Amino acid sequence: MSSPDVLTNLARRHDCDKGTAHSYTRHYHKYFAPYRDRPINFLEIGIGGYGDPHAGGSSLKVWRDYFPLANIAALDFFDKSPHAADRITIFQGDQSDPGILHRMNEQCGPFDIILDDGSHENTHVIRSFEVLFPLLRPGGLYVIEDIQTAYWPGLGGAAPSDNDTSTSVGFFKSLVDGLNYKEIPRKGYVPTYYDENILSMTFAHNLIFIEKDSNQEESNLLRDFDFPAGFEHYSKPRG
Ligand SMILES: C[S@@+](CC[C@H](N)C(=O)[O-])C[C@H]1O[C@@H](n2cnc3c(N)ncnc32)[C@H](O)[C@@H]1O
Repeated sequence: MSSPDVLTNLARRHDCDKGTAHSYTRHYHKYFAPYRDRPINFLEIGIGGYGDPHAGGSSLKVWRDYFPLANIAALDFFDKSPHAADRITIFQGDQSDPGILHRMNEQCGPFDIILDDGSHENTHVIRSFEVLFPLLRPGGLYVIEDIQTAYWPGLGGAAPSDNDTSTSVGFFKSLVDGLNYKEIPRKGYVPTYYDENILSMTFAHNLIFIEKDSNQEESNLLRDFDFPAGFEHYSKPRG
C-alpha cells in the first residue's frame, strides 16, 4: 500500500482540513486505498461553506483526485449546485430526511463508501446511518467524521455512558456486542440487521468506520464450550 502522504498532500493542495487541522487522511488512506482504482460510487454528506453556494467543496476535489474512476455524490442542507462537475453530483437536502437519502441512492447508488461530514448533530448522524447503511453495497464502508460531538450537549451529545444510545458514540457502542452475536449464550435471540451485516467497526480519534458485509461466521470454540444451563446458542440449540 502506498503512503498516506498521497491523500494528505491532496488534502493540503485543495485546502481541505481532513489532512490539516485533523489527521483523518492517514486513517482514510488505510481504509480507502483498496477502492482507489475501482469505479466506485462515493457519497459525502456535507459539502462545506454553509450558506454561500460557491464556498466549500474542498473534500469533493480531494475525492475526485484520489478516486480517478469514482462517481461522487454529495449532499448539503444549502444550495451547492455550483460544485457540480464531471463525476460530481450535488444534492440539496437535510440529512435527517429519509426522502432525500433514498433519492440519492436511487440516482447515484448503491454506494460503496458513505462519509458523514454533515451537521454532526447526534440525531442526524444516527438517522442517516439507519437509512443509508441498509442501502450501502455489501463490501462497502460507512464512515462518520467528528464524532467528538457525541459529548457536546449543544449538538445532542452527553457525557460518556455505556447505556445511552441517543449519542452517536453511544449508538455505535451498542452495536459492538452484535459482532459476536453468534457466540452469545441467550435464549430465543433474533439477530438484528446490524448483527448480520456489520463485519467490523473501528473507533479512532473523532472517527468511526463501519465495514458492511455478511457476519455469519461461527467460532470453532463453540464446539468446546459448555453453555450455562438454560442457555443455548441462538443458531445451534444444544439438545
Ligand atoms: C464541516 S462542513 C463539510 C466540509 C466538507 N466535507 C469538507 O471536508 O470540505 C459541514 C457541511 O454540512 C452541512 N450541513 C449542516 N447541516 C446539514 C444537514 N442537516 N443536512 C445536510 N447537510 C448539512 C453544512 O451546510 C456544511 O456545509
